[in-house]
Amino acid sequence: MRADLLIKNGTVVSARGIEQADIAIENEKIVAIGSLSSWSASEEIDASGLHVFPGVIDSQVHFREPGLEHKEDLATGTAAAAMGGVTAIFEMPNTKPLTLTAQDMADKVRRGREKAWTDFAFFIGAAAENVPNLPSLERQEGVAGVKLFMGSSTGSLLVDRDEDIRKVLENGVRRVAIHAEDEPRLLARQHLAVDTPVNHPVWRDVECARLATERVLRIARETGRRIHVLHITTKEEMALLAKYKDVATVEVTPQHLTLQAPDCYEELGSYAQMNPPIREEAHRSGLWEALQQGVVDVIGSDHAPHTKEEKAKPYPQSPSGMPGVQTLFPLMLDHCNNGKLSLQHLMDLTSAGPARVYGIAGKGRLSLGFDGDITLVDLKRKQKIEESWLASKCGWSPFTGKTVTGWPVGTIIRGRQVMRDGQLLGSSAGQPVRFQETL
Ligand code: DOR
Repeated sequence: MRADLLIKNGTVVSARGIEQADIAIENEKIVAIGSLSSWSASEEIDASGLHVFPGVIDSQVHFREPGLEHKEDLATGTAAAAMGGVTAIFEMPNTKPLTLTAQDMADKVRRGREKAWTDFAFFIGAAAENVPNLPSLERQEGVAGVKLFMGSSTGSLLVDRDEDIRKVLENGVRRVAIHAEDEPRLLARQHLAVDTPVNHPVWRDVECARLATERVLRIARETGRRIHVLHITTKEEMALLAKYKDVATVEVTPQHLTLQAPDCYEELGSYAQMNPPIREEAHRSGLWEALQQGVVDVIGSDHAPHTKEEKAKPYPQSPSGMPGVQTLFPLMLDHCNNGKLSLQHLMDLTSAGPARVYGIAGKGRLSLGFDGDITLVDLKRKQKIEESWLASKCGWSPFTGKTVTGWPVGTIIRGRQVMRDGQLLGSSAGQPVRFQETL
């Protein structure tokens, strides 16, 4: 009984429960789970005192390559991911150029193969000009799905009219990821975006989010197309989404679960500015309630780095977005330690959930035959989030100075150790994620 890698004596968090078990990985796949004292391996990890999670999948990041590499690139973004215990990322199409064609996509996948520390997939952007090509584009290697922006955020991708949204949803079959903010209402209220980011959620108000989510849910059900509504921020949307679980899955971000207005704007200024915005306590607790009731399928970071210089511009010229891929798991482990959710529920939201939503092939579970993707966690470790730990090119986080309990101490991707105790190991060897619908 030989394997490439044995992870011994850990506390495994899986669909079976939370139990002491060893895991053997051979040729990138899990080949045995249980009491494996008779096994030997080329490499062994003693995971005594550690929790062994299936690899964390962050299904919403912006890594800025190509074209905006002064903010981030695929090497630094995926390094930040691996440092935070993330084993695979799905990256968004608002790069430069926008990811709209087969060539744009093939170029991103080539870049990923060259320099990504984690496994990766990319979204193809939906735009008026590529609607007829979406059915073939969504089948290309490395494609997680289609991304549709209903409201303009950063960059020019926009599909805001019902008839155009309908065309996108009628062209193709895979799940479509949606940024739901209502563009006409955003434009009509733009005069409110003045003086200070405290006004950000006043401009991009609850009704902006609710209206767009309601519109896209209706069109999704009419067209029979599955959608995934990203970064939900209001309790009103959660009430709606609970009635559309046949066609719609739901994402929340750690920042919307952790920060609240107006405090975050008073403390962090434009560093707290993102779209859709961080809102008041009533919404934050509404998001938690929906999460606890199972309305939420996935936690994604919406990692959206901008430089400190860019963020220092006066509001509203300051760009929207904050980094988060590296802090996603530490923040959520801290919430587990504070009794907000169980370890198994977190595992469902960060591994099984993304796999279910996007039909990922062979990832998201600790089961025989699945990829040997593992996040090792020291659940008791108290650690301050410090700038010196961050690998993102932007060099800041809204959470620096915060002490969390629970810390990712190892990232293993297809049986290779990529991060251990805060150090990246070896060289980048990320591969495109595979999906059941396009095997
Ligand atoms: O705040 C945001 N920033 N929201 C988005 O939808 C885009 C993102 C970015 O790319 O910076």
